[in-house]
Amino acid sequence: MAEPLLLSDGLTIDLGPVRIVDGLSFRLEAGRTLGVVGESGCGKSMTALAAMGLVPSPSRLGGTLQFEGRDLLAMNEPERRGLRGRRMAMIFQEPMTALNPVVPVGVQIGEMLVVHEGFSPGAAARRAVALLDRVGIAAPDQRARAYPHELSGGMRQRVMIAMAIACRPALLIADEPTTALDVSVQAQILDLLLELQRDEGMAMLFISHNLGVISEMADEIMVMYAGRMVEHGPAQDVLRSPGHPYTKGLIATIPDPGRRQEVLPVIAGNVPDLRFRAPGCAFSPRCPLAAAECSVAVPGLRAVAEGHDVACVRAAA
Ligand SMILES: Nc1ncnc2c1ncn2[C@@H]1O[C@H](COP(=O)(O)OP(=O)(O)OP(=O)(O)O)[C@@H](O)[C@H]1O
Ligand code: SF4
Ligand SMILES: [Mg+2]
Repeated sequence: MAEPLLLSDGLTIDLGPVRIVDGLSFRLEAGRTLGVVGESGCGKSMTALAAMGLVPSPSRLGGTLQFEGRDLLAMNEPERRGLRGRRMAMIFQEPMTALNPVVPVGVQIGEMLVVHEGFSPGAAARRAVALLDRVGIAAPDQRARAYPHELSGGMRQRVMIAMAIACRPALLIADEPTTALDVSVQAQILDLLLELQRDEGMAMLFISHNLGVISEMADEIMVMYAGRMVEHGPAQDVLRSPGHPYTKGLIATIPDPGRRQEVLPVIAGNVPDLRFRAPGCAFSPRCPLAAAECSVAVPGLRAVAEGHDVACVRAAA
């Protein structure tokens, strides 16, 4: 097996007394895309922020988290800053929160190159224009002088992507990068990410609550529920033969593009409150197959096929 770029083994994240992420194990190899899917609050963003070294404090991280063979959890802040933006970069749902409103976007992109790559301001400015062009922004030399509020949502997201790829990171983390955009713009941004990944050979951790979007992007899929991984495997396997009742529910909620649906289907029941974890399978209050045995212990992951694991007592190989 290839050396993983990002390796998580039994990762736990505690925010105060609450265990937000509970024993998460996955690996992401160079150039591959791992899609992370799950409902609001299941710990997708916290997992991404742990990789970036940006989990809000006070927090406690446990288990193993490695990047390029280095122990991320043991790094100090200067070491983390040396990785962020340079070897790993992240794009967010709402670029306005990550862009500086009073600095022209070309200067913001150029700053990455000045800080991490030692570019002169002039060379950085020229490279910023080239990057804006690369992410599909028309008239890039004019746009470089624009402030974030002068651009559309889709263009701002392209600017964020230009910033993220400026230093050619090995890992790009995309956390719901298109959720805030119109459907047509969404598709353009997803295409851009796929194209950049192919050209640059980046690995991608792609996060979405929408399994339909994940299925367009990912080589492998990790399904999270209440801070735990409940299913993982090659994207086609997970989509064609889901093993966990929760994954089956997510697949049933993918909107049918051929049909106009007034009300989108949802999985019945509420997203769990992580402060009050019941013993056993966290999905049991919503699971159509729940039985007494499901409440005894947290179901461990079991292989249902080569490289395809499911955490459900009913999962069968
Ligand atoms: N700053 C914070 N302080 C305390 N708890 C937080 C904080 N941010 C998030 N949480 C909690 O951590 C848990 C995981 O949150 P996270 O943001 O990782 O979820 P998510 O899967 O990204 O959800 P979404 O789809 O809504 O973005 C949630 O239960 C949330 O309430
Ligand atoms: S372990 Fe039980 S409750 Fe949990 S998903 Fe499987 S059948 Fe449902
Ligand atoms: Mg999130």
